[in-house]
Order: sequence, then structure tokens, then C-alpha cells
Amino acid sequence: MIYRVVFSSDAEKQLNKLDKSVRVQIIDYLKTRIEGSTNPRMLGNAMTGDFKGSWRYKVGKYRVICDFKDNICVVQVIKVGHRKNVYDLGGNDMRKKIIAANWKMNMTPAEAARFAGELVPLVDVPEVDVVICAPFVLFGAVWVNAEGTTVALGAQNMHYEDKGAFTGEISADMLSAVQVSHVIIGHSERRQYFNETDCTVNKKVKKALSAGIAPIMCCGESLLQREMGITIEHIRMQIKLGLLDVSAGDAAKVVIAYEPIWAIGTGVTATTAQAEEACAAIRQVLTEIYDKSTADKIRIQYGGSVTPANAAELFAQPNIDGALVGGASLSLDFAKIVEAAK
Ligand code: 13P
Repeated sequence: MIYRVVFSSDAEKQLNKLDKSVRVQIIDYLKTRIEGSTNPRMLGNAMTGDFKGSWRYKVGKYRVICDFKDNICVVQVIKVGHRKNVYDLGGNDMRKKIIAANWKMNMTPAEAARFAGELVPLVDVPEVDVVICAPFVLFGAVWVNAEGTTVALGAQNMHYEDKGAFTGEISADMLSAVQVSHVIIGHSERRQYFNETDCTVNKKVKKALSAGIAPIMCCGESLLQREMGITIEHIRMQIKLGLLDVSAGDAAKVVIAYEPIWAIGTGVTATTAQAEEACAAIRQVLTEIYDKSTADKIRIQYGGSVTPANAAELFAQPNIDGALVGGASLSLDFAKIVEAAK
């Protein structure tokens, strides 16, 4: 198929301000994105190839958006800024739903760039806060697509010390310097495989908050604990210890993720009633630690085998304010889950 490349009038204006080489870079980029063609041909402002959807590409301080439709590729160039105020930690408005992707240890930078290029335009929405929690080395691949959109960048872990001899660790300031606005803390996989405890979770939560990063603090019971009937006691303890010495003002910036361990990656979702019961218990303990007004501001996510099929019902519960999504965040199913939260 032949596509004519049309620069929007605003794009022309922006491009005129830029170095001439930028235009060449954009065209080169378009060529690299042609699918199914090893030898894409440029004919003046036309190109051949199998294009789809919308691509985003960053050149210096500018974001280039290419929309392919009816044989025309419309190119827009937009000046981009830093983290948007959707990540302004003071600004949680009426518990806006927050859907976070936890990519865990998946994808190479090339795969992540391609996937984020497809995903971000679908979840760049004002109604829902969307966070992509990527492995450290994939931040660039995510950010190149997410910068200038409503989609936030998150990490899956961080250390609680500022700096020093902590081989293999990443500090809060390092994350903040690369536009990370959220960090998952105390995921059950980190507790299980990397010896994280409520004490380290608490230190990390406080450090993240002091660096202006919103912690997504995880809690949840094992199957044994559920069978023993101590689910609520266990979660209450995790919340109390995780938030020890965190002020009410700071607590309002924390997102809590309730993830029953037996529901993670198993395809077994907690029933809506089980999920709501646990999330309501979390809000109750938050009320006891702080007060009702603080507890009412804190967003509580459910996580564990969330899919497009069960998302809407979970989000309809009064105490479930979003989801932390593992497996389904590695495909465009994630966009359907975000859609269900609108
Ligand atoms: P799954 O959605 O794959 O069950 O993973 C949940 C999770 O651990 C998100 O942090």
C-alpha cells in the first residue's frame, strides 16, 4: 500500500523551528516501523508498507505522532513536558480509578518499545490514572512512548537508602530523575523470593514518599492464611506495619494493592465478594490508623488474575479503586481493563 505522508500545519510550524535533520530522522523512523517489508521505499513524500494505527516517536523535546488512515499518514509534532500533574501526589481527586501494569520480568527493550507504542495511545485517557511499572532497563522504551501523555511510568522495586555500597540496587532519587512517578513496594513475589519484610516495606514507602514518588504498597494473604481464617488479621498487620510513622498527609498519596497470593498468576480470581471484603477491611484499618477523611482518599487496588472479563465487576465495588495487573498487562487486554475502569 502507498501512503502519502502529510504533516499537519502545526507540525510544519514546529518542524520549521527544528534542525533540518529532524525531518530526516522522522522519515527514517517511519521506514523502520514499516511492517512486513525489509526494504521500505520512499518516493518523495510517499512510502510503501503495511502501516497500522498510530505511532509515537520522540525527537529531542518533541513528540512525533503518526496516524495512518486511508493511505495518508498524518504527522503531528508536539512539544512535550515533564511528568504531568496527574502524578501530582496531592491531587487524588475523588478516588479516580488507578490501573497499573506490572510487567514483572518480561520483554526486551525492542519488544517493550513496540508494545508500548501500540498500548499507550489506547490508554492515554483522562478518566483513569494509568501506570506502566516496567523493569528498570525498559524505562526508556516506555517513556519514549508515554512522555507527554497521561500514562505514568512506574518501577517494580527500589532501595530505601539514598546511595552507597548496595550492589544491584536502585535509589528513589534515581527513579525520580528518570520520570518515575510510582513504585510498587512489597509485592508478594519480592517478599517470597527476595526476603522483603514489613519492616523493609515501611522503610521503602517512607523513602519513596520523601522523593515525591507514589508507593503502590502491596498486601495479601497466602492460601494457608485464608484457609486458617486469618486473612483480615494478616492484611491489617501488613497495613499497620507498612504505614508505620507515615503521616496522614503522606498516607493519602499511597496506593494500596490487595493481592491475594493464591490468585496471582493462577487464573483464579478472588470472587468479587472476597476482594471487596478485604478492600473494605483495608479501608477500615486506614480509618483506625488515621481518620475517615484520610481513609476515603486512599486508593485501593485489587490484583490477581484480573482480565477484561472480570474487571468491570471488580471496579463496581465500593472499595475497589482499580487494579494491579500482571499477565493481562502484557497484551492489549490491558487497554480493555482500563476501558472497564472509565
Ligand atoms: P496476575 O495478574 O498475572 O495474576 O498478577 C497479579 C500481580 O501480581 C500484579 O502485581
